[in-house]
Amino acid sequence: MARRSLVVGNWKMNGFKADGLALARALAGRMRHRGDARFEMALCPPFTLIAAVGDAIANSGIALGGQDCHPKPKGAHTGDVSAPMLKDLDCRFAIVGHSERRADHGETDALVKAKAEAALAAGLTAIVCIGEREAERDAGRTLQVVKTQLLGSLPKGAAPATTVVAYEPVWAIGTGRTPTTAEIGEVHALIRSELAQALGKTTAEGIRLLYGGSVKASNAKEIFAVDGVDGGLVGGASLDVDEFWAIAEACR
Ligand code: PGA
Repeated sequence: MARRSLVVGNWKMNGFKADGLALARALAGRMRHRGDARFEMALCPPFTLIAAVGDAIANSGIALGGQDCHPKPKGAHTGDVSAPMLKDLDCRFAIVGHSERRADHGETDALVKAKAEAALAAGLTAIVCIGEREAERDAGRTLQVVKTQLLGSLPKGAAPATTVVAYEPVWAIGTGRTPTTAEIGEVHALIRSELAQALGKTTAEGIRLLYGGSVKASNAKEIFAVDGVDGGLVGGASLDVDEFWAIAEACR
């Protein structure tokens, strides 16, 4: 099954109204002009900007996503945002289990799985993030760590329309360092084969696997050419119109 490339901009905790809207409008303009984009693009602004960015990208074909969601649909959870609330703002995606959430908020695989299942229940596509820390790679434990996180975080009902997996080595995020293309290929092959065992070959073949961690215009083409890489989850470089657009254009 052909998998359409996907490039996701994770703005993290960046952006005020003026610059967030300028970025969204510029990307929407390029996307409308492009027309026949081979790739799908999604923007995940901070919660404060989702509604405004949604207006700015209306009818451009760019999708909207949240950077996190709570496992419960509503209730007494001060400061949290639920998956149905994201859906209410016309989001298509919710990132879950980003390593910054795992590190800053102690999120476990079980919690990430519950969040992913909440996203699916709300009709969103979960972008499930997994990836090893530097010490784990140095200890030769990368494949084991990635496998454990994948199987522990994957939502029940994972399917091509509901689930995207993002492999993001923690040591590559925001550092300017990336694994070699061979290392990325090795991990993506492992993820695909574990998905096949868990969900069956046909389902596994349809699920998109993104790479994330210091993707830039200068390395995107080489990374996206790796077998099994279906696009990127982009942090820092997604805050610059030209840089992010060039990354998207590097999709297969
Ligand atoms: P980076 O972040 O592109 O700034 O390395 C990627 C991510 O955290 O999703």
